[in-house]
Amino acid sequence: MYTLGIETSCDETGVSIVKDGKEILSNLILSQTDLHRYFGGVVPELASRRHIEVLDGLTKDALKEAGITLKDINLIAVTSGPGLVGALLIGISYAKGLSYSLGVPIIGINHVEAHLYANFMEYDDITTPCIGLVVSGGHTTLVRIFEIGKYKILGQTLDDAAGEAFDKVAKLLGLGYPGGPIIDELSKRGNPKAVMFPRAMLGQENYDFSFSGLKTAVVYYVKGFSQFRKEKPPKQPISTMDLVASFQEAVVEQLVKKTIRATLDMGYKTIILGGGVSRNTRLRQSLEEETKKLGLKLYLPSPIMCTDNAGMVAGLGYVRFRLYGPSPIDLDAQPSQPLS
Ligand code: KG4
Ligand code: ZN
Repeated sequence: MYTLGIETSCDETGVSIVKDGKEILSNLILSQTDLHRYFGGVVPELASRRHIEVLDGLTKDALKEAGITLKDINLIAVTSGPGLVGALLIGISYAKGLSYSLGVPIIGINHVEAHLYANFMEYDDITTPCIGLVVSGGHTTLVRIFEIGKYKILGQTLDDAAGEAFDKVAKLLGLGYPGGPIIDELSKRGNPKAVMFPRAMLGQENYDFSFSGLKTAVVYYVKGFSQFRKEKPPKQPISTMDLVASFQEAVVEQLVKKTIRATLDMGYKTIILGGGVSRNTRLRQSLEEETKKLGLKLYLPSPIMCTDNAGMVAGLGYVRFRLYGPSPIDLDAQPSQPLS
């Protein structure tokens, strides 16, 4: 069974062909970074327009790479939310047109669930129940996964998402867009202990996150208001590498501590990660160290399966179609679609 996956929830156009829910025959991604870089963030209308321009051509390329034609497609899976409404609508409209003309079923897929599902496509031995952490440009969500399709959200960010914080701090420092990969690279040459930025919410019993105070602390630091944090100004100006490494360490510590605590509190043994920030070198390293110490199992997607891609959408589409059947043809975009 061949599933065509379509992902247009934000600033990546993705088309993928997946055989029997697992075998990725093609997984093409056209990033719009060049388009949004100038603005330091995603401009929704520009994102939608670019999706329109490239989606049909990318679909043809994905079919060609997979060695099949449209007539071979048995199911169309498309991201229906959460995401930018205009961008989602492009993918959904295109998917509906194909579904109607080819006479094949369509299924709407939750983007956050797809990020989690990426792990199940790459690893065969994940046992549930387990803890899932989705860290992306739009989400920081800690979930109990009972089985595929059954979740309970434990905590979320109360303000900025982790990836958003990376992007905003990079913008503030004039480092470029998207900020996550740039800060990740620079931090490798920086001292993570140079500045003790605040670790929000760690003293609290809940599983929620907060990153906007940390972002503000970086702003204050850069503008020279370090007395706000009762810290003496450094004798020597601090390097950008040390600054971003210290910021990254504060993000990572918050993510790792809460995730580990949730896992232990639930009595689970397994953690899976998803979303663009799960590519972060320090986050992967820190989680690997902590889980090893505690005898927990950790699953991290390969880099291409961390960031937005249509392979995870097609894979999850196949599973959900078999479990719950297709979506109605009046499937609509749900910009704030909850995980359920
Ligand atoms: O999952 P994703 O591709 O799109 C959303 O669903 O938002 O995640 C994009 C986010 C951006 O904020 C980007 O800066 C961040 O993931 N990101 C990273 C890294 N690679 C991408 N953040 C930290 N370290 C990275 N290596
Ligand atoms: Zn995403």
